[in-house]
Amino acid sequence: MNGIKVSGIKAYQKIVKVLIAALNFVEPETLTGPGSVLKISDYLKKNNFKKPLIVTDEGIVRVGLLKGMLDNFKEQGIEYAVYDKIIPNPTIQVIEEAREMFIEKNCDCFIGFGGGSSMDSAKVASARVTNPRTSIMQMTGYFKIRKKIKHLIAVPTTSGTGSECTVAAVITNPETKAKYAVDSPKLIPSLAVMDPELSYGLPPHITSTTGMDALTHAVEAYISTIPTKLTDDYARRAVKIIFEDLETCFKDGKNTQARENMMWASYYGGAAFTRALVGNVHAIAHNFGGLYHVPHGLANAIVLPHVLEASIDKCDTRLAELAEAAGLKNEGKSTREMAEAFIQKIRDLNKTFEIPETVRELRKEDLTLLAERASKEAFYFYAPPKYFSAVEMEKVLEPMLA
Ligand SMILES: NC(=O)c1ccc[n+]([C@@H]2O[C@H](COP(=O)([O-])OP(=O)(O)OC[C@H]3O[C@@H](n4cnc5c(N)ncnc54)[C@H](O)[C@@H]3O)[C@@H](O)[C@H]2O)c1
Ligand SMILES: [Fe+2]
Repeated sequence: MNGIKVSGIKAYQKIVKVLIAALNFVEPETLTGPGSVLKISDYLKKNNFKKPLIVTDEGIVRVGLLKGMLDNFKEQGIEYAVYDKIIPNPTIQVIEEAREMFIEKNCDCFIGFGGGSSMDSAKVASARVTNPRTSIMQMTGYFKIRKKIKHLIAVPTTSGTGSECTVAAVITNPETKAKYAVDSPKLIPSLAVMDPELSYGLPPHITSTTGMDALTHAVEAYISTIPTKLTDDYARRAVKIIFEDLETCFKDGKNTQARENMMWASYYGGAAFTRALVGNVHAIAHNFGGLYHVPHGLANAIVLPHVLEASIDKCDTRLAELAEAAGLKNEGKSTREMAEAFIQKIRDLNKTFEIPETVRELRKEDLTLLAERASKEAFYFYAPPKYFSAVEMEKVLEPMLA
């Protein structure tokens, strides 16, 4: 990148960061605890909504997760429609189909029910209903949604993305084989329903990888260049919970307390990065998702220790602080040693979950394209402690080759 372009981008970054810092993001109302999903009907009635469109995926329907809420809607005389064709790394096409169903079925609000893919799709479909002249691609980037979206309730069934409280939604464009974030305060759901019972049946590998996504949010927000007291507090809380409870959820999916704690870790991670942004880990992980369909949490889990090692010179103090949040005792270690111990603790956790150190799908001939895209994504949109040029990014990627 030439000098003029770099200074232009830096000015743009500064404006985005000042705007984000100045905006006092509202947090969603919350319904929490076992059975909280059955209180949605009261919320709908209280707010005079007559017919929600539930946006979800076939896997969620197959395991019967919607049943409790839908039976309750029937008992309470609440009409609804269901769009259940969301796919992981959701595409523009499925989001448009959800928007069409909302209009066709005369719905008046959205319920994003599932993992990040379902919640994000509900967010963007809702934005498209009220902003019909703005295409999904035109919404990508910061602050591109003009009109308030249709009322949105988020019901997470994974504990990872934090989408239930974030400004973000991530979409995939199959034409470019790339993922793009839509970031707008208008995308923050009005209500987040955090019912741990919905995550009891989450298979261990999805429990672990989505949990590592939450960890990545907390770590990237904590080492970002625009943290606040609030984001630091959220990030430390998330890190503490994840190192205390994620392994329990992995081994004993029905442990209510651990599942409930992880729902909060996901929320805190989301609330932290929505204000302090993510960094190079997400920039790389999105591109693994776009090009190879690697699930988001798995991609982050693999990339996180590699990026932290490559960035340690710029963030060892912050990583050392997170080491303490993760329960590591200082015992006379230097800041650098504590930071390294934290990275090792992440590697150990990955090992417990049988998460590899490399990306099976990664091909040597794609390294240049991936490095260029990831470097650009981080440079334009995120606030990492260290920016990598495309050439440097390629070096970060190389050890991830299987
Ligand atoms: N909006 C944000 O702030 C944000 C943040 C991070 C990631 N994301 C995006 O979110 C998406 C990833 O979301 P995700 O990791 O939650 O996964 P996901 O929504 O793609 O779901 C993964 C799989 O888990 C299954 N599943 C979900 N809950 C289940 C349950 N309780 N029991 C059984 N199966 C269940 C789903 O059917 C699906 O097959 C990516 O597109 C990512 O880029 C968004
Ligand atoms: Fe993420």
